[in-house]
Amino acid sequence: MSDLFPLWTHRLPRQLLVGGLLLATSVTAGVWYYFTPKYTRAGYQPLQPVPFSHATHVGQLGMDCRYCHDGVERSAFANLPASATCMNCHNQVLKDDPRLAPVRDNVLTGRPLAWVRVHRLPDYVYFNHAVHARRGVSCDRCHGPIQNTDETAVAEPLSMSFCLDCHRNPAPNLRPAAEVFNVNWRPTSAAQQLADGQRFVREWDVKRLDNCAACHR
Ligand code: HEC
Ligand code: HEC
Ligand code: HEC
Ligand code: HEC
Ligand code: HEC
Repeated sequence: MSDLFPLWTHRLPRQLLVGGLLLATSVTAGVWYYFTPKYTRAGYQPLQPVPFSHATHVGQLGMDCRYCHDGVERSAFANLPASATCMNCHNQVLKDDPRLAPVRDNVLTGRPLAWVRVHRLPDYVYFNHAVHARRGVSCDRCHGPIQNTDETAVAEPLSMSFCLDCHRNPAPNLRPAAEVFNVNWRPTSAAQQLADGQRFVREWDVKRLDNCAACHR
């Protein structure tokens, strides 16, 4: 025997609650927030042409994100590293290893090395890395604990509601600007982080960016 109620009714009370709460803040924003999918592409983990591991390079070797993603602090795009960057070490380390053949070929013969893009927002959404990095939003807030992963996956939904949850209440999500790239940073306590975050919001004049044009321009 099949279910007595159509599937959508199971979600009703929660949706009413969320809808009601949002109504109190902003009608239009609330409606969109409530309709947009919450779990966009989270978990997507494509196979890469070279088995590059953030666990090895960041987790074990302690490399800084900016060594390879050198745009992240100054431009909208974080950038992927050129193969020459890899060869700074791999012309010595694992020098003849077959796993690194596509990297060597790219440098020596110019044969393309195409990393498969993991994260991609729809074209109608504007995003900017530098703005977040300069306002104390750490990489792991959106990309998860990448220093523990061998194969890069989408860790957070990166849906509109995910973005808005923070844009409406940034304080608990901010850390000291100098710690944005530090994968080992932990707040001394949640209360301390909130107090610091509130101070950063004042000192850096962090806006509550939930107007549609901030992200849809
Ligand atoms: C030694 C170079 C290197 C370092 C250091 C490094 N990465 Fe990467 N990163 C890569 C390469 C190569 C890729 C493409 C392959 C992949 O997706 O795993 C990548 C992919 C990514 C992606 C997915 C990009 C996409 O396609 O959407 C994210 C996010 C990312 N890195 C974040 C970080 C963060 C955060 C740090 C610092 C904690 C970091 N990386 C440190 C080399 C590096
Ligand atoms: C700062 C030096 C350094 C840089 C730069 C570097 N690597 Fe590595 N890489 C290492 C070391 C050290 C190891 C571990 C070697 C071992 O296992 O003996 C390693 C291991 C690897 C492995 C073997 C799998 C693993 O995780 O152990 C691959 C594949 C690899 N690196 C790819 C890359 C690629 C692609 C880049 C450029 C995006 C890169 N590396 C940049 C130092 C580096
Ligand atoms: C507020 C969320 C957020 C934060 C914080 C963030 N990223 Fe991203 N990242 C994204 C989104 C969204 C994309 C996909 C962008 C697109 O499709 O245009 C992305 C894409 C990337 C890519 C793929 C190349 C590119 O630029 O599109 C890399 C590499 C990356 N991020 C690294 C980092 C690193 C390193 C940090 C920390 C300094 C970081 N990100 C912080 C949300 C974030
Ligand atoms: C963890 C917190 C957090 C998350 C998650 C987050 N943001 Fe932000 N975002 C911020 C902060 C803080 C600012 C800076 C506000 C200011 O400058 O006053 C900002 C600024 C921006 C800006 C303004 C850029 C400019 O040119 O001034 C855009 C666009 C933006 N975010 C897009 C996004 C998108 C799209 C997502 C989701 C994929 C997202 N953000 C997720 C915290 C966040
Ligand atoms: C902080 C950034 C941000 C703000 C502010 C924002 N959006 Fe979005 N919006 C997004 C992102 C990210 C997506 C893409 C979600 C996805 O990939 O499914 C999106 C998707 C959408 C979609 C497509 C929904 C779907 O189901 O595919 C609509 C419509 C939309 N937004 C309308 C709005 C309106 C109206 C406002 C103002 C009330 C607004 N957005 C404010 C980030 C934002």
